Amino acid sequence: MNYIQANTNGRLHSATDPVLSPLDRGFLYGDAVYEVWRTYHDTVFAFDEHWTRLEASAKSLHLTLPFDAAEAWRELTRTVAAFRAHGGESSELYIRLQVSRGGGLIGLDPALADHPTWVFLVQSLPPVSEEKMQAGLRTVIAADIRRNHPATLNPLWKTGNYLNNLLALREAKAAGADEVVLLNLAGEITEASTMNIAFVRDGRVVMPPLSAGILGGITRRKFLSDVAPRAGVETSEAAVLPADLDRMEEAFFLSTTKDITPIASIGEHLFRVGPGTLSIRLKNAFADFVREDATAHPERFLG
Ligand code: PDD
Repeated sequence: MNYIQANTNGRLHSATDPVLSPLDRGFLYGDAVYEVWRTYHDTVFAFDEHWTRLEASAKSLHLTLPFDAAEAWRELTRTVAAFRAHGGESSELYIRLQVSRGGGLIGLDPALADHPTWVFLVQSLPPVSEEKMQAGLRTVIAADIRRNHPATLNPLWKTGNYLNNLLALREAKAAGADEVVLLNLAGEITEASTMNIAFVRDGRVVMPPLSAGILGGITRRKFLSDVAPRAGVETSEAAVLPADLDRMEEAFFLSTTKDITPIASIGEHLFRVGPGTLSIRLKNAFADFVREDATAHPERFLG
């Protein structure tokens, strides 16, 4: 296993060391929130946007974050420095911050929690292989599990409870697929286990709206606000049903760790992949965008 650096409540250690209390509510109940950042060109991408989403997730759970953005940034850079001192790896980085409500007496009542526990995790983030990028991911629609209804555990909140998505992914992997696509209770397509989804129809991009019950992905948002307009590609947000898939020429996922990754198939539906597709053109446009974005944010450069 490659080295993973942890920083638990300010203490730097290997992520394989046992440090958390068994009473931690993140462990007992998934009573936690998290964010995942990544670097492009050694610069943390969209630090502020992820921080804002973390604040929103915490607020939804009535959880008080233990620090502000400036302090979080200092701890992030300390963790990265420790990671580099350990392995000296030169790839781009995966940076995760998990904040739980903490420990205390056993019981669901949030008032039993003592004080939040936080953990930064840093590991290297290899790019999606060129082969996968050209071939695309093979996916299936989860048969039994649906994306949470917003009135249950709202998909807009990035919480420490991913059981629904995890079980759906397990089902897809057991069927030999790379990834799962989840429907909502109305039967509309929502997203994948940890990625948003988009389709290409008549040369335009269409995505399920936030109201379908999805995470408001930062990659998705940057795509809509910057990448697609700069590439001269029209976008819209509209409900997509499995019955609409026949009319979709291409499909791709969007997420921090995978940025834009083409989809080869959803069940029996095959999509265009490879050279000459709009997905690959948009992937390249995204790469141009993050390169410029890194230059525009020298304060997020990790050295
Ligand atoms: N996942 N949808 C879900 C359910 C997610 O967990 C994620 C992020 C996304 C994409 O959001 P963003 O573009 O902000 O990364 C969509 C992260 C990467 C993870 O859990 O590893």
